[in-house]
Amino acid sequence: MEGSLVIRGERPHDLAAVRAVNEAAFGQVDEADLVERLRAERVVLLSLVAELDSQVVGHVLFTRMTIESDGGALPAVSLAPLAVLPQHQRKGIGGRLIHAGLKILEDRREQIVFVLGHPDYYPRFGFSSEKARHIESPFPPEAFMMLELGSGAGGCTRGKVRYPVAFGL
Ligand SMILES: CC(C)(COP(=O)(O)OP(=O)(O)OC[C@H]1O[C@@H](n2cnc3c(N)ncnc32)[C@H](O)[C@@H]1OP(=O)(O)O)[C@@H](O)C(=O)NCCC(=O)NCCS
Repeated sequence: MEGSLVIRGERPHDLAAVRAVNEAAFGQVDEADLVERLRAERVVLLSLVAELDSQVVGHVLFTRMTIESDGGALPAVSLAPLAVLPQHQRKGIGGRLIHAGLKILEDRREQIVFVLGHPDYYPRFGFSSEKARHIESPFPPEAFMMLELGSGAGGCTRGKVRYPVAFGL
């Protein structure tokens, strides 16, 4: 890749650029609106941007969600959305954002991350639909994937996902 890529935490002056990246990547406003609703709901754990030559070209958001289990509500993390400007896709930027985010979450002792996404893309980061098989969700099983950080939750987590209200599930 030409130029230098920096992955860093979102700052207040990035908000318009983050919106633009999500609109361009998805070709619609829905995900950009979702990001703003999640901020308003105050469930954002981590919002990272990828900056190439001082331009924001990628964004990933991690938010708090829970697993409703017999033993009570277990904290987990939702990865969504992930967006890279169309002209900068397939250069590894999405991967850099995910790796950086997962490292920070692991350092913060988060244990479980869920993603709804392409079954060909997310397993390379350790996400697996097989690991999520005991978790009830409204999504197609092959696209609903789970990743355990650190020592994880022992691989025996059962329950039902509860996403932030902003997702409208
Ligand atoms: C998905 C996305 C974030 C990936 O970012 P990226 O920087 O292009 O990804 P990377 O360069 O790290 O990885 C590239 C790999 O991702 C996969 N990939 C990228 N876009 C993909 C897509 N739309 N469908 C399936 N796989 C895809 C490919 O396997 C690709 O590998 P290849 O180039 O060897 O074929 C980016 O393509 C994007 O913004 N897409 C539109 C929005 C979206 O669909 N977001 C994900 C859902 S939340």
